[in-house]
Amino acid sequence: MDAQATKALRERLSGLKDFGAAPHEAHGALPSTQKRLAELAAEGAPHGTVVIAATQSKGRGRRGNKYACPEGGLWFSLLLRGEQDPTDAPTTLLAGLAASQALDEVGRVATELKWPNDVLLNDKKLGGILAEMGRDEIGPRLILGVGLNVNLTVRDLPFLLRASASSLLIETGREHSVADVLYAFLSWLEGHLRARAEKKGPYLIGQVGDRMPMIGREVRMRVGAEKVRGRALGLAADGALMVSTDQGRRKVIGGEVEEVRRVE
Ligand code: BTN
Repeated sequence: MDAQATKALRERLSGLKDFGAAPHEAHGALPSTQKRLAELAAEGAPHGTVVIAATQSKGRGRRGNKYACPEGGLWFSLLLRGEQDPTDAPTTLLAGLAASQALDEVGRVATELKWPNDVLLNDKKLGGILAEMGRDEIGPRLILGVGLNVNLTVRDLPFLLRASASSLLIETGREHSVADVLYAFLSWLEGHLRARAEKKGPYLIGQVGDRMPMIGREVRMRVGAEKVRGRALGLAADGALMVSTDQGRRKVIGGEVEEVRRVE
């Protein structure tokens, strides 16, 4: 752990209402912030603990993919404790919304979302979210891993991803404060979690859907081993994607959108 960076991080986040008092950690390099935060959780770390690293050597992405995490990006994990109502707006979707809002606020851009929670700008991926659920002596927990390409140059991006991924720096031509993006994300997410507790889940799901231009378009998806094609109709209250297929209407709970096409 980098003691100076940790002190600066704790000071920076101390103004947050719900996550401000947690014992956050900052590292120069880590294999994965997910792994480090899971260790802290097992030792009893509280709700709202953040672990951030300037670089990761074994960054984890969704579906077991590796995730490249060079210097210049925002790579962190957030510990959320407590049970979630399965019929409510899922935390993973709210985290995607918060990430999109944070990038918009700091970068003065208009990012979009691809279901479930990839953040896109100019049709290129700027970041994504990995949610790992677990349980420890305190109870159920969710470790949210957030990776946002803030100040990555084209050369920092893996060669094979250069056509489909980008960064806030590349898209705006300016560097942005990684700490500002982190603070904005946490502040938006705290607000969304409070709003959900006040039964405003449907309103939040509406906000997520408003950032998804794929809704109304033809999509090709991978759902487990199955390929699904159809028109994305919208989001259900529990965050599932409703798709109209040749076989009828279908509720997709987990999957990856591989292609989105405008309907002529
Ligand atoms: C995705 O596949 O789109 C999700 C990527 C999540 C990457 C972040 S970076 C911080 C945290 N630590 C990890 O090892 N992964 C997540």
